[in-house]
Formats: sequence, C-alpha cells, structure tokens
Amino acid sequence: MDDILERLLTGEIVSGQALSEAMGVTRAAVWKQMEQLRAQGFVIESVGRQGYRLTACPDTLMAPVIRRGLETVWAGREIVYLRSVDSTNRYARELASRGAAEGTLVVADEQTAGRGRRGRGWISPAGEGVFMSLILRPQAHPSQVAGLSLQAALATARAIANVTGLDARIKWPNDIVCGGKKVCGMLLEMNADEQSVHDVVAGIGINVHQRDFPPEIAQTAASLDLLTGTSVNRAALVRAFLQEFETVSSMAQAGTLMDAYRERSATLAQRVQVIAPAEMFTGTALEVTDSGSLIVLDEQGQRREVLAADVSVRGLMGYA
Ligand code: BTN
Repeated sequence: MDDILERLLTGEIVSGQALSEAMGVTRAAVWKQMEQLRAQGFVIESVGRQGYRLTACPDTLMAPVIRRGLETVWAGREIVYLRSVDSTNRYARELASRGAAEGTLVVADEQTAGRGRRGRGWISPAGEGVFMSLILRPQAHPSQVAGLSLQAALATARAIANVTGLDARIKWPNDIVCGGKKVCGMLLEMNADEQSVHDVVAGIGINVHQRDFPPEIAQTAASLDLLTGTSVNRAALVRAFLQEFETVSSMAQAGTLMDAYRERSATLAQRVQVIAPAEMFTGTALEVTDSGSLIVLDEQGQRREVLAADVSVRGLMGYA
C-alpha cells in the first residue's frame, strides 16, 4: 500500500500497468489497493486509459503522507504507522530493544491502553489525535536525560504554533497549553543501566479533533480544532514536530536551548502550586535548570528544586 501511495502522492498520473510491473502484482491487485485507499478517504480519479491520479488526501497518519515534504536528516527517517495499538510507547520500546535506529517514529491512529504520567492513562480515540513515540539514543549519562524532555516539549510547542498559529506554551515539565488549556502531554521512558542510556522513547499525545472530553478533564483540556475553529491536519503536525525536533537538538548542542525554552514557558515567573509525591507548597517559579528541574521560591523565601511533580499555574487550568 505504501508503494502505491508514494507514487500517487507525486500528483502525477500513475499507470496501473506500470504499478503492477513495478510491484510484481496483477492489475487486479493494484485495482484492489486503489479501492482500499478510496475506502480510507483518498480521492483517486481513473484517468481514461492512462491510469490513476490522486486529487484529495484525507486526514491520515499513514507514513507516506507524513514523509511528503519531510526534510529531516534523522528524525522520522523510519516511520511505523499502526491503525491501532495498545500504546505507541510500549511498541517503540520493544522496537528500540531490538535495535531500531535513532529517529524511528511509531505513530498510531488509536491507542487502546495509552499511558500517561504518574500511572495515569491517556485517552486515545481513533482518528482524533496524534499518538506518537520517537526513539532516541543519546550519548548521555542517565542523569542528563531530563534535558531531552525539555527538547521534546519545545519541539512540540513550536510545531503546534507553526501549524496552527496558536500561542503554544510549555507548562513545566512538558505539558503544552494553549489559551490556558492542555492540548498535549508527554511521557518519556528510558532504558538505561547505571553508566549509560541505551534508548529513550519520547511519547507525545496531541488532542486534535476531539469535540468533548470526559468530565474529569473537561475543564482543563482542549483540542486544537476547538481552539482554532478549523480542522487541523495531523500529518502536518507530525512533520512539523520531526523538523522542530532536529532544530531543537541542534540548539541544545549550540547551548541556545534554554533561552528558547524559557521564552515558551507558561510556568516561569508565575505563582505556582507544586504537588509532589511527598509534599505540596506554593511559591513563584524562578527558573528551569539545564537538567530539567524547576526552581521555586516558596512562601518562606527558600529556593526549592522540584524534580518530579505536578505543577499548577495560577490562572491556568483551574488554579486560582
Ligand atoms: C501525560 O500524562 O500528560 C502524558 C501523556 C502521554 C501520552 C502519549 S500518547 C503517545 C505515547 N504513547 C503512550 O502510551 N503515551 C504517550
């Protein structure tokens, strides 16, 4: 299917005969695949005896559609598209453990057991969002991996802003919020031993077409369609993310990442409520360190370093 789609995506008229010869299948098999593509929403004209021409492409995450116009060097050079999977993170970790290359992207239309932070789930209905996991192989000590979470957050925020025009901001550590509502969450999972990191899977879920949310998150979550009043193209978001991830990686190497991160932050300089596993306190968010922790000045004037917690920002997502 990918072969045929790649040829159709050139916009040229593609001859059925040439396709059957190139793919080593019968003309009837080519016709059947055209019908399958049509059933998925691709509009394919039969042009007399000359062949087939693609005239409209649905909102799909199929790999050839994401790859169209992608100019990255390593991010997304290998794309695994799944119609349905339990969790793209689970699937990507398995691929990584079998040696998948850095930059391999697993993307799905639906997750049946999407995983969120702190043991929560991630609602992932078919066709409604972007559910993807990028395999990374940093040459880093396990203690440095939190920096990758900042990179993933900045790349995603920039991608959402580029594609939708929304003011996408990062709520520490790596939620993306637009207009005060969460539109995207991330879960980074690492496979490492004491000395070195084998791989990291950066899992990203973006709410795109959802019209409503379960009551427990209805006040705090939104989708990009609801916020823009348009239908946002999911493949364009994935492409922009892959491109931005490479840009942001170069920024990290050049030492310019943190300034860009701070500019996109919804948390810094704000009054925050920190809900950590063992404690809860309020204060002012002062800075995010290179290693990804948040420094908060608490009510007693103490600087406190927060490594893992949920943070509410006053005036954002219900914290008043
Ligand atoms: C959060 O709790 O905010 C993090 C949500 C992360 C969800 C994404 S969807 C793609 C990837 N696969 C998963 O199972 N989880 C992440």
